[in-house]
Amino acid sequence: MSHIGSYDERLRDFSWEISEKELDYRPGKEINIGWYCSDRICLQGKAEKTALIWEGLMGHERKLTYDDLRKTSNTIGQYLRDLGIEAGDRVCLFMDKIPELYIGFVGILKTGAIAQPLFSAFGDESLFVRLENAGTRAIITQKKHAPKVRKIMDKLPDLEYLIIVDHDPARPLGAKERTLDLWNMPWVDAFSIYPTFAETPSVLHYTSGTTGQPKGVKHVHYSLISQYLTTKWVLDVRDDDIYWCTADPGWVTGTSYGIIGPFSMGATQCVMDVGFSAEAWYKFIEKHRITVWYSAPTAIRSLMKAGNELVTRFDLSCLRHLASVGEPLNSEAVIWSEKVFGKPFYDTYWQTETGSIMISNYPGMKIKPGSMGKPFPGIEACVVDPKTFEPIPESGKIGLIGFKPGWPSMMRMYWNNETTYQNKFKNGWYMPGDRSSIDNEGYFWFVGRDDDVINTGGHLVSPFEVESALLENEMVAESAVVSKPDDINMEVVKAFVTLKPGFEGNKDTELVIMNFIRKKLSPLAMPQEIEFVPNLPKTRSGKIMRRILKAKEWGEEIGDTSTLEDD
Ligand code: WT7
Repeated sequence: MSHIGSYDERLRDFSWEISEKELDYRPGKEINIGWYCSDRICLQGKAEKTALIWEGLMGHERKLTYDDLRKTSNTIGQYLRDLGIEAGDRVCLFMDKIPELYIGFVGILKTGAIAQPLFSAFGDESLFVRLENAGTRAIITQKKHAPKVRKIMDKLPDLEYLIIVDHDPARPLGAKERTLDLWNMPWVDAFSIYPTFAETPSVLHYTSGTTGQPKGVKHVHYSLISQYLTTKWVLDVRDDDIYWCTADPGWVTGTSYGIIGPFSMGATQCVMDVGFSAEAWYKFIEKHRITVWYSAPTAIRSLMKAGNELVTRFDLSCLRHLASVGEPLNSEAVIWSEKVFGKPFYDTYWQTETGSIMISNYPGMKIKPGSMGKPFPGIEACVVDPKTFEPIPESGKIGLIGFKPGWPSMMRMYWNNETTYQNKFKNGWYMPGDRSSIDNEGYFWFVGRDDDVINTGGHLVSPFEVESALLENEMVAESAVVSKPDDINMEVVKAFVTLKPGFEGNKDTELVIMNFIRKKLSPLAMPQEIEFVPNLPKTRSGKIMRRILKAKEWGEEIGDTSTLEDD
């Protein structure tokens, strides 16, 4: 049984006030996530406790106490304020998982500015659309990523500063370029935190949809109320835990549960900034005595592939609680983890827009391998009929997931996109865009997405974004991008392409186009396969029918083709 009480006990008389009280927050009072993640923990007598243990390439390691986190984030906050950054300005974090990313996030929030984290593997085009949409004023990055920013800076009039944390003094700085060398400057002990309130914007995360450019999901400081309590109740993080969230803060898991959750609890967390290898991961767990581990199905499947024998070479008895998010966690993975770690992975379901875990396997609750679990207390969830948007009362029937709006970490808006935001609500329900059924015990069983977005290894890729980028290649006439099945990543990107006259579709052409997308967008968005076709299936109005191509890839029935003519 969990030390935090059973799921049923927690459901009874649940109110978000439980979280507010634990955080000493009262409605109408100031609330600043940056303060909660550092200053408050120091005030609680934990200034000397380790906040962050970081490991980079070649055994490079850095440890920060909560007092270090407080002072370094003050330092970045003061630095930004001195540059003229004001509350409400968007400041982008564009870095690998280095300490400055975590500290910068906390520092930005202390100034009242909005943190806009972007995945450091993004190419210049992915970066450009997100910075342009947000009207970003400053970007903090590493010298290795700076060239991608320099390439687009002239097209971004709002972008006033390119701040480099590891600048090479031998290289002259451009007019808009600044340096920030946190490890060789005096740290600021006292910083006046900007008075933010519940509804003050905090974080802007970009997420991909089926149509149009990525949307900026706007969160507010009050999201802490959800993030804190779910970290405690679902991830089961306790004061003496050594926690490891494997997600990159370029994505929401890496901020909600890789920064805000663990730091606001005053836990010790570990970060590993090296590429994936099963051996390195096990070594990391063993070395730091990790107790709570939050990861993703693709990583778990890769670990499974590395075999059971490898696991026995390490002492992983430190692990107490394992959780997963991002894509369907197949029952085999849950059963495997129980076998090799002696503990199952607890699946959790949520998305960028929800800001925190919505449906999950709660510690102490019976796990049904393959099910996402049950709604977090305070979350009203159902599946609705896709036509009427009325809740489906029968168990086992597939419908669209619906959440009753009003939980603290719900997005407040898509940046500059009121219409798309409003379209996410139907009949009073917030629609995350996923299909599921609910069994007779209230467990949710994920079925699939309700759109064409590709979920590759837990990362959403918009077919529209890849198709648009493909069209920018001189050889491409038309394209359609769909998912295709993959053993490890569940889905990967596949492109169907028709070429312009004079170009021939062969292995070389395929490689050139693949690299073009990898550089422009990201390795995630790069098609793993390009099939050259003479033409693409279209509706009478000329719309490309991705559905037909996708069904073929998945070996599914194509279904009603009358819509092929008109859709
Ligand atoms: C989409 C959200 C916040 C988590 C990181 C991804 C899919 C998420 C699960 C799960 C099946 C899942 C959904 C969701 N998804 N968790 N446990 N089982 N599917 O955040 O990039 O906003 O993606 O990922 O389709 O809508 P995101």
